[in-house]
Amino acid sequence: MEKMKVAVIGSTGAVGQVFLWMLSDHPWFEVAYVTASSARIGQRYGDSVHWVIPFEIPESVRNIEIKEFNLDAMRQAGVQIVFSAMPAEIAKGTEPELRANGFYVFTNAGALRYEDHVPILIPEANGESLELIRKQGYPDSGFVVTNANCVTAGLAMALAPLRVHGIKEMNISTYQSVSGAGYPGLSSFDITDNVIPYISKEEEKIEREIKKILSIDPIVHAYCVRVPVMFGHLITVWLTFEEDVETDDILKDWDKFVLEETGLPSTPVKPVIYSKDQTFPQPKYAFWGTPKGMVVYTGRLKKKDGKIGFTLMVNNLVKGAAGGSIQNAELFVKQNGLV
Ligand SMILES: NC(=O)c1ccc[n+]([C@@H]2O[C@H](COP(=O)([O-])OP(=O)(O)OC[C@H]3O[C@@H](n4cnc5c(N)ncnc54)[C@H](OP(=O)(O)O)[C@@H]3O)[C@@H](O)[C@H]2O)c1
Repeated sequence: MEKMKVAVIGSTGAVGQVFLWMLSDHPWFEVAYVTASSARIGQRYGDSVHWVIPFEIPESVRNIEIKEFNLDAMRQAGVQIVFSAMPAEIAKGTEPELRANGFYVFTNAGALRYEDHVPILIPEANGESLELIRKQGYPDSGFVVTNANCVTAGLAMALAPLRVHGIKEMNISTYQSVSGAGYPGLSSFDITDNVIPYISKEEEKIEREIKKILSIDPIVHAYCVRVPVMFGHLITVWLTFEEDVETDDILKDWDKFVLEETGLPSTPVKPVIYSKDQTFPQPKYAFWGTPKGMVVYTGRLKKKDGKIGFTLMVNNLVKGAAGGSIQNAELFVKQNGLV
């Protein structure tokens, strides 16, 4: 089968690197075009990038030339699907331009997440929202599909099978890794041997996005904290349900959350895995699972004063970013018979 040619824009950042790592052996997609900021144009990817993810840079990626953001050149390279890992303030301009010019954009940037006809898509949680691309004009035009903020991506996975009980209230605290701020991100002076109890706009994003993705309307209280950890966000969660729910019900819901035959190469069969080990999950295991980094891990389930509590860990760069986008593109391609 001939692979579909894709572009990665913002390819040298933390999320862009995970795109290239995951796409290097993808069965359906092949990277044909990469961009970064203007200072890198014309350089070989392997010479230019400061590679920060904990796997070797794939050989097939080293020699790719970094090109300028140019729609005609992308078209000439045979690109139809564009994966975006650009800062939101740049994406605000580039993504509508790509859409208007017929490209299919799968993005990590938050710029268009709250537009009515733009889905925040997580195939396991709200696959039906992909239909919104038709309201953007597909198949006569391009479209933009976003994925959730990295914390919300993990939360939505753990909460999707629990929606049936009626989620009334959600209180969370996050412990977010430094890779969530991109590269170079925070100064080592600020984060070494320290925690920072504020991440700009994060708490608001989580509240807004979890409601849009899961079509629920709980009261949400959130605190988001940056911790000196490289990869993986840990979250503690307290939920109040409309129904009287026991911990055994929650365990059964997660256990039944099995996706045998999605046919999507980047979707785990069991997307949420619970462990009884009281010290689990930990960000140290952020790249566990198959595919690596795509499983959300939960632990420490308990019931107190009518509330259900648990911990969860999501790989912010994989399930919470590049891997989520790739999965979204796979769903689109499969549903539209393009593969
Ligand atoms: N990090 C995460 O965990 C995470 C999770 C979910 C969503 N996101 C979102 O994903 C996007 C990328 O995040 P990141 O963490 O990968 O950020 P990052 O490490 O700062 O990378 C940004 C990328 O955009 C490029 N870029 C910056 N300014 C540009 C410009 N003016 N023109 C063209 N390219 C430009 C950079 O190129 P240079 O290397 O040449 O500067 C780099 O490739 C952001 O919108 C972020 O909010 C991130």
